[in-house]
Amino acid sequence: MSKILVTGATGHLGSGIINHLLEKGVNAADITALVRSEKGAEKLKEKGIETRIGSYEDASALTEAFKGIGTLMFVSSPDFDNTLRINQHANVVLAARNAGITRIVYTGIAFAETMNVAGLQYVHLATENMIKTTDIPYTFLRNGFYLENIFGNTLAAAVKSGVLVTAADNGKYNFALRDDLAIAAAVVLTESGHENKAYELVNSSLRTFEDYVTILSQLTGKSIKHESLSPEEAVSRLVKEGEIEPVASFNVYGLYLPIVQGQFSKESSALEQLIGRKPTSLEDALKQAIITQ
Ligand SMILES: NC(=O)c1ccc[n+]([C@@H]2O[C@H](COP(=O)([O-])OP(=O)(O)OC[C@H]3O[C@@H](n4cnc5c(N)ncnc54)[C@H](OP(=O)(O)O)[C@@H]3O)[C@@H](O)[C@H]2O)c1
Repeated sequence: MSKILVTGATGHLGSGIINHLLEKGVNAADITALVRSEKGAEKLKEKGIETRIGSYEDASALTEAFKGIGTLMFVSSPDFDNTLRINQHANVVLAARNAGITRIVYTGIAFAETMNVAGLQYVHLATENMIKTTDIPYTFLRNGFYLENIFGNTLAAAVKSGVLVTAADNGKYNFALRDDLAIAAAVVLTESGHENKAYELVNSSLRTFEDYVTILSQLTGKSIKHESLSPEEAVSRLVKEGEIEPVASFNVYGLYLPIVQGQFSKESSALEQLIGRKPTSLEDALKQAIITQ
């Protein structure tokens, strides 16, 4: 097997992909992890994974890090500045070409052509198109939004106050558990037949925040209601409840309003097909999230 290099290897998705590759029987010696510093490398080294240092900001360090690698598992940058992000991604793609990478698996965004959320579609379409210019065989894992985006503080505040504040009305969302997306990546990386394909990886069951509070009430034994406010009211209520303003604004304008607009109600069974089972349900994901809170 040719070597696989995973970028974003210290992050949630990248580390999940590495764990699932190991579970699938890929030898640690065939996996390399890109890290930004030695500090992030320790846990990976303990698993027998070779680490190489490189930042998305530095095309020549990336070219050096990619030498001798067959498949690049390119996890997109988490930077909030979309213009900078395109620049970072261009460095990765250029380095892949210059280092002689033979396959690129890239984590984009689901339904990129018709999606319009926080300008993310521009970043991912630009990157996909740049990858296509290299003629390197690719697989685009167009990941849906993570279910984890609506857990964390959102979940804790709802359990504490008995009210889940959103601006999402009864809109539907197709969010998927991040670990299901990591499994899908490990499947694509270890199988043939995925060359030059794009997969829309979303949950095959659409859910609403009314479903969310019903499940949460059952799981906690507490009555939790959903209150959908205007965007301005929702931001101010979330901030009052302890959320920091940028996150409150992102939740309202980057999640809840796009939900109302139907941006997350598109359906695909690609995730289900890749992982060979139904994606983790909102019920099971909330159960796990409550335990780990
Ligand atoms: N679908 C969604 O709902 C959703 C939500 C959030 C993000 N995303 C996207 O999906 C990606 C993976 O998600 P995640 O949850 O795994 O994110 P994460 O936990 O924040 O991990 C991001 C990874 O990227 C690395 N990184 C950051 N800046 C870098 C740079 N300049 N050069 C090289 N590596 C860099 C980080 O390394 P360090 O440990 O050194 O910081 C970390 O390993 C994100 O990066 C983002 O593009 C998707």
